[in-house]
Amino acid sequence: MPADTIHLASTATTHPSFTVWGHEIVVDVPLPTLVFAAVGAAFVARYAWSWFRLVAELTVVPGISLKKFQTKTKGAVSWAAVTGCTAGIGLEFARQLAAKGFGVVLVGRRQAALDELAQEIEAKYKVPTKTVIADAADVAGRDAAIARVVAATRDIDLGVLINNVGASHEMPVAFADTDPAEIDAIIQTNISWTLQFTRAILPQLVARSADLDAPKSLVLNIGSLSGRIPSALLAAYSCTKGGLQTWNTAVAAEVEPVGVMFRMVFPAFVVSNMSKIRKPSLTVPTARDFVKSTLGSLGLQRGAQGRPYDATPYPSHALLDYVVGLFGGVSEQLGVSVILGMHKDIRARALRKKAREAKAAKSQ
Ligand SMILES: NC(=O)c1ccc[n+]([C@@H]2O[C@H](COP(=O)([O-])OP(=O)(O)OC[C@H]3O[C@@H](n4cnc5c(N)ncnc54)[C@H](OP(=O)(O)O)[C@@H]3O)[C@@H](O)[C@H]2O)c1
Repeated sequence: MPADTIHLASTATTHPSFTVWGHEIVVDVPLPTLVFAAVGAAFVARYAWSWFRLVAELTVVPGISLKKFQTKTKGAVSWAAVTGCTAGIGLEFARQLAAKGFGVVLVGRRQAALDELAQEIEAKYKVPTKTVIADAADVAGRDAAIARVVAATRDIDLGVLINNVGASHEMPVAFADTDPAEIDAIIQTNISWTLQFTRAILPQLVARSADLDAPKSLVLNIGSLSGRIPSALLAAYSCTKGGLQTWNTAVAAEVEPVGVMFRMVFPAFVVSNMSKIRKPSLTVPTARDFVKSTLGSLGLQRGAQGRPYDATPYPSHALLDYVVGLFGGVSEQLGVSVILGMHKDIRARALRKKAREAKAAKSQ
């Protein structure tokens, strides 16, 4: 005999009942109500869980240590390769990975800048460097450039690859007015180079991490929130970064089970030549702070909750990414509209600046 009776709603006697730990549970709410309540509870639980994870990952949950990707052999050095490393975010990845003891393969298009950075890193962090000249936008020279990087990394313990190099539009522009050559350069740099370069380097990273007790390998693909939130007036750029996200998820499913952590990183605006923003703010970090946040939260999704191989590491960017996904179509559409307005403003300012410069040049 049950110890007592719990009614989920009214006390009608004709409804099904069952017993849990000595309590009789009488289901006397109408079935549709019960189904709606269960679905509602599932939704609330999903959002509560993702919100809890977001807050925890931004405050107390630590990222995976970079040591996991370094050899434990005494006296030996593990290496990281960084593309587009002579300025901005790539430069900071090169510096901060060197500060953690990685030798760095510096890949860029200007030999003098690569040499200068190599000298700085070797003097400051006491780690070895190699430089490889490669122009990611150069279709004809692409295979030779990739072969040079493969040759430079063949005999070293390469454990980290930062696919950072990227190209965007000179300024926001309607797709119908975009210079076809600019579209080609963006696709070549962001998609063709990144995929072919990774295809050439990845087997080495997979082989390195095959054994259970071997150090793991890490690939970070630098995307953009422009790929996550379709960005009007930067349509070609937005398309390539969105494409990279899909590619990243597909490849991650292949290589993560065999020891290669393969993640897409989503910045919003960061102070750099590309963003043309010079002053940091709450929403626009310096490249240094952005990279610190990224390397300090490896393995966490932060703002990219619910997207397994994605990470939006910088706190204000993380909140933006999270909120855009929060109310489905409504917040996604709002995000697209807000970005269109913002890019219209940026274009108007860029055109005014161009006109001022043209006038100044004429008067000289
Ligand atoms: N900054 C942002 O607000 C922002 C936002 C979202 C995503 N991102 C992404 O973050 C990544 C880095 O951007 P960033 O802001 O650091 O840019 P950045 O300051 O302009 O630096 C770009 C770096 O890539 C190099 N580079 C550019 N084109 C190249 C080419 N064709 N071949 C070889 N190297 C090339 C540049 O070399 P030089 O020194 O020779 O110019 C420089 O080292 C990109 O993938 C970008 O899409 C940036």
